[in-house]
Amino acid sequence: MKYAIFYFSPCGGTKSVADIISKELGDAPMQELTTPSMNTAIDHDTLTFFCFPVYGGRIPKPMYDRMKIISGDKTPCVPVAVFGNRAVDDALLEMSELAEKCGFVTVAGCEMVAPHSIDPQFGAGRPDASDKAKLHEFLEKLKAAESFSPVKMPGDPGYAKKKSAALPLYPVASKECIGCGICEKYCPAGAIKGKHMRTVPTKCISCMRCVSMCSTESRKVPAPMRLAAHLTLKKLCSERKEPKFYL
Ligand SMILES: Cc1cc2nc3c(=O)[nH]c(=O)nc-3n(C[C@H](O)[C@H](O)[C@H](O)COP(=O)(O)O)c2cc1C
Ligand code: SF4
Ligand code: SF4
Repeated sequence: MKYAIFYFSPCGGTKSVADIISKELGDAPMQELTTPSMNTAIDHDTLTFFCFPVYGGRIPKPMYDRMKIISGDKTPCVPVAVFGNRAVDDALLEMSELAEKCGFVTVAGCEMVAPHSIDPQFGAGRPDASDKAKLHEFLEKLKAAESFSPVKMPGDPGYAKKKSAALPLYPVASKECIGCGICEKYCPAGAIKGKHMRTVPTKCISCMRCVSMCSTESRKVPAPMRLAAHLTLKKLCSERKEPKFYL
């Protein structure tokens, strides 16, 4: 069996899970989708992993654009939802349906915890040894499988009609900004514009990549919104959540 791994990872948590999967599968090739990537066709003998973060119980909006360049040929796939120790909600089902529109067949799925990119004290140190051992067991089963059958992912089929309760978390540049342009170049949503590195709220997906990449620490979500997010996440993300596997 050949393997391929695609990942969308603004802050690196999803990549850390994709890296583990790649190693476990004998350094399986990885392609990043965080910023636009090249067209890729995957044959039906390649078990393909789509690793993505969970945003508000859904997939990140740019995934719709990124998936346009990937085509399968009834190719077996495994959506891998990486979440910040709250919940995955409908994200696996949404990713599975999107992949199926691109020529893939969902044959397994998994949920892994990584640090919450809005407030990384939640989910800190994940995936840990226990998470990795469970992921290893799941991948061993996939490696040993002689054939694959379609598997339904969990989630509410009416997810598209649900209202989002997302907080408006839009980073802004302070006067310490040196105008290096790194945040603008690597923003997955093309939401940073002009010489003052302003954020366009209608485009920003609040992924926090620009905050984590800024070497002068001059990009931040304004303090009142950061505090509001912290208090909300404290209620929802403090209790440990476990990885889940569907096969
Ligand atoms: C806008 C936004 C919404 C999020 N929503 C959820 C969520 O619904 N459930 C959850 O458990 N984690 C949520 N997270 C946390 C991310 O899923 C988690 O931190 C993930 O590892 C981020 O991936 P990355 O480090 O590759 O960017 C959210 C993060 C962001 C930025
Ligand atoms: S990465 Fe930081 S310093 Fe560089 S342009 Fe963006 S905000 Fe300014
Ligand atoms: S401007 Fe918004 S979308 Fe762009 S990197 Fe920053 S948080 Fe992410």
